[in-house]
Amino acid sequence: MSKVISFATQKGGSGKSTLALVLAAPLATEYGLRIAVLDCDYQQSIVKTREQVDAANFARLRETNPDAQYPYDVYPWQLNRIFDFIDNPEHNYDLIIIDVPGRADGDDVFNALTACDAVIVPLVSDYLDRASTAEFMTILEAIKKAADDAQIDFQYYGLPTKRVAGQREEKEMDDYIDGLGLSRFNSYLGHRKAYTRASTLYSLLNPAWARYAGGTKDTSDEIRRVCEELIERLGLPDRRATAVASVSTASTSTK
Ligand SMILES: Nc1ncnc2c1ncn2[C@@H]1O[C@H](COP(=O)(O)OP(=O)(O)O)[C@@H](O)[C@H]1O
Ligand SMILES: [Mg+2]
Repeated sequence: MSKVISFATQKGGSGKSTLALVLAAPLATEYGLRIAVLDCDYQQSIVKTREQVDAANFARLRETNPDAQYPYDVYPWQLNRIFDFIDNPEHNYDLIIIDVPGRADGDDVFNALTACDAVIVPLVSDYLDRASTAEFMTILEAIKKAADDAQIDFQYYGLPTKRVAGQREEKEMDDYIDGLGLSRFNSYLGHRKAYTRASTLYSLLNPAWARYAGGTKDTSDEIRRVCEELIERLGLPDRRATAVASVSTASTSTK
């Protein structure tokens, strides 16, 4: 049975698609999870990353490694057809990640979110977002209550991203969210250029790609911490031992 999650919030530009991009590849290659990403976002940024950014690298990789595969599947998908994908017995994934548009109006987003085992809300610590993010999480709290009553497992968590170390707003955001009794991850992603260069082919834990994308030990540590907290909180299988980092060991064919 696949676990279904979504990175969702009430506005655009808060890092939902980036979280999916940064985490999906390492979860597949380093943690051995079978993953599908359903891109239901207007910008189709994940589909475009695969079709535009990764396609050339993949073709080049295939020249030296004809059996190379993308580490996970990406589907352009419609919000109102989420259950068609989830209920299809042929879709045998450990984890399905839904990238949704950044809005809270309209039932289609919330219907899609009710299909999730967990909704993860990017927490960006600027004042303007704080109240509306908390409002969005309070709506998720209501969904959770309804799910609890129906004995359906539904979780939601805040996940800090675009974090700037030592900035007081970060602590204030944590205290604000904790003060509202809303749950959040202990791990987080910093505000880093490397995350804007995430690929659907290579993981930022792949040393060659990390070098190319400007990744550092900090980015690797951050990504690993978030991956492991996600696996633990969702009860996903941890196949690190068996994960054959097939794609990631091959030298990246970036020119
Ligand atoms: N952790 C991060 N560090 C640096 N830039 C980020 C980070 N997360 C997102 N961004 C940048 O913020 C912008 C919006 O991110 P995006 O993932 O497209 O947001 P959303 O999907 O919520 O609309 C993009 O330019 C992206 O590169
Ligand atoms: Mg997006």
